[in-house]
Amino acid sequence: MLIDMSSDTTFIPLSVPCLGGREREYLTSCVDDNWVSSVGPFVRRFEGAFAQHVGASHAIACASGTAALHLAMLAAGVEPGDLILVSSLTFIASVNAIRHAGADPVLVDCHPGSWQMDMDRVSRFLMEECDTREGTCRHRQSGRRVAGIVPVHILGHGADLPALLAIAARHHLVVVEDAAEALGVRIAGRHAGTFGRLGCFSFNGNKTITTGAGGMVVTDDRTLADRVRHLSEQAKLPGSEYVHDAVGYNYRMSNLHAAVGLAQLEQLTGHLAAKRAIADRYASAFAGRAGIGWIRPTEGVDPAWWLFTLTIDPAITGLTARQVMAHLKEQGIESRPLWQPIHLSPAHTGALFLGGEVAERLYDQALSLPSSVGLSATDQDRVIETITELLMSNQRRSNHA
Ligand SMILES: Cc1ncc(COP(=O)(O)O)c(C=O)c1O
Repeated sequence: MLIDMSSDTTFIPLSVPCLGGREREYLTSCVDDNWVSSVGPFVRRFEGAFAQHVGASHAIACASGTAALHLAMLAAGVEPGDLILVSSLTFIASVNAIRHAGADPVLVDCHPGSWQMDMDRVSRFLMEECDTREGTCRHRQSGRRVAGIVPVHILGHGADLPALLAIAARHHLVVVEDAAEALGVRIAGRHAGTFGRLGCFSFNGNKTITTGAGGMVVTDDRTLADRVRHLSEQAKLPGSEYVHDAVGYNYRMSNLHAAVGLAQLEQLTGHLAAKRAIADRYASAFAGRAGIGWIRPTEGVDPAWWLFTLTIDPAITGLTARQVMAHLKEQGIESRPLWQPIHLSPAHTGALFLGGEVAERLYDQALSLPSSVGLSATDQDRVIETITELLMSNQRRSNHA
């Protein structure tokens, strides 16, 4: 959706960066010191501070969250022909990264309350359609190895990791977490992204902290960390000669991006508090309104509320989410539906799907509302009033019909 922001000063965007800290100062020092590439000092500083923040032993900064996921798949030992379980209701990059590694996804529907990967479906698939023996899990029908599982913690919430880890251990699956949207999410007191062998984050412009474009792989395993770093640097062997021992990638983050990332990380506590306050205000404004719902955090998960997302039931409200989105757009307010579930995506036709219609219902009914860290109370009130008035006038019309 293209929105002309030039002529409308009252436009309320969905999720824009808040560059309120030392970004300019750190960028200026990159320019003054002539360090702009990935060998500059901010990269290591950002990696160190990030690892410490989430409680991981190692962090490797990457050019994007998608690059981080691709490298994590390779380091985790995913091989061409493998099957990898992954949420169907996710941004497409989670699944593309599996395909980039030469594997294929097994797409899993989501839980109706938490909207995260439905662990009952995963468990049934592994018990009923796969054989686990001698340290390997195989899909019976295709004979292919089921090598791993990628829980995606969507919208600043968390998947049911305790259940997932137990299942993964039973079936010898490597766990790679897609925590691109989950900075600040804690599960049983621990940061999302630090449970699996590797976890991946994104610092794309709409995330809770941004580097413009960027991502991070975290892991507690030094060997895996070294592998990720090596592959991200074109698999070049140390020294001045250009000798490479594998087909690598140019996936490193630049010093300029890391400078912004470090400044952003320093403000994370404030950003998370702002997200929580925004979610609280939406939740109390829409509480009890017929036909309106939103994500319910999984037990034990302390969410970070990246994008507050409503569901609008057309059978009760008489309005579809797309109609509400169009009305908001007319009023200069940006909102957006969730991603087309990947099992419906032409990009991944033919992938196995374990579901269910939950993801499809959420695709129809969900609408993410403005949730920028810098969203003012006045602007949020305008969003709430615009939606509430639309719902009420529609209700009045249907009462008179
Ligand atoms: C769930 C999820 N996974 C992966 C990505 C990919 O991250 P990037 O855009 O930084 O490549 C994103 C978002 O952008 C995401 O939301």
